[in-house]
Amino acid sequence: MNLKKIPGIFVFLLGAVVLASGAQAQLKSSPMHANLPETAQMKDCLQCHQSYEAVAKKTENLTPNPHSSHRGEPECTNCHKVNAKPHFECNDCHELNIKMKGAE
Ligand code: HEC
Ligand code: HEC
Ligand code: HEC
Repeated sequence: MNLKKIPGIFVFLLGAVVLASGAQAQLKSSPMHANLPETAQMKDCLQCHQSYEAVAKKTENLTPNPHSSHRGEPECTNCHKVNAKPHFECNDCHELNIKMKGAE
C-alpha cells in the first residue's frame, strides 16, 4: 500500500462530509435541488417543501423565525439562491444574529 495516497483519501472524505452536511452555499450543489431552474419560484419550492408553515416549523428554534415574521411570505429565493450564495434579507434592515449556511 502506498502511504502517499492517504492524504488524498482524507481530502476526498472531507469533501463528502461537507456535501452530506448540507453546508454548501447554493441550492444547486445539493442533489435534491439539481434540477431547479435558475428562475425557480416559491411554487416550485413548495412542490416539495409543502408550505411556509412547514418550513417555519423546521426553523422554530431560531429567534426570530426567518420563515414567520411581519414580512409575510416572501419569495424563497430572496434568501436561498439557486446558483449563488444565500442572502439573509432580514438583515437589509436588522442586525439579527442569524447566519445562513454558506453566506459570507
Ligand atoms: C424536488 C424536491 C425539492 C424542490 C423542488 C426543492 N427542494 Fe429544497 N429540499 C428538498 C429535500 C428533500 C431537502 C432535504 C430535507 C429538508 O431539509 O426538507 C431539501 C432541503 C432544502 C434546504 C436545506 C438544505 C440545503 O440544501 O441548504 C433548503 C434551504 C431548501 N431545501 C430550499 C429550497 C428552495 C428555496 C427551493 C425552491 C427554489 C427548494 N428547496 C426546492 C427537496 C426539494
Ligand atoms: C425593509 C426593512 C425590513 C426588513 C427587510 C425586515 N424587517 Fe423586521 N422590522 C422592520 C421595521 C421597520 C420594524 C419595526 C420597528 C422595529 O422594531 O425596529 C421591524 C420589526 C421586526 C421585529 C419586531 C417584532 C415585530 O414583529 O414587529 C421582528 C422580530 C422582525 N422585524 C423580524 C424580521 C425578520 C425575521 C425579517 C426577515 C424575514 C425582517 N424582520 C425583515 C423592518 C424590516
Ligand atoms: C428571509 C430569508 C428567508 C426566506 C425568504 C426563506 N428562508 Fe428558508 N431559511 C432561512 C434561514 C435564515 C434558514 C436557517 C439557516 C440556514 O439553513 O441557512 C433557513 C432554512 C431553511 C431550510 C432548512 C431548515 C432545516 O431543516 O434546518 C429549508 C428547508 C428552507 N429554509 C426552505 C425555505 C423555503 C421553501 C422558502 C420559501 C417558501 C424559504 N426557505 C424562504 C431564511 C429564509
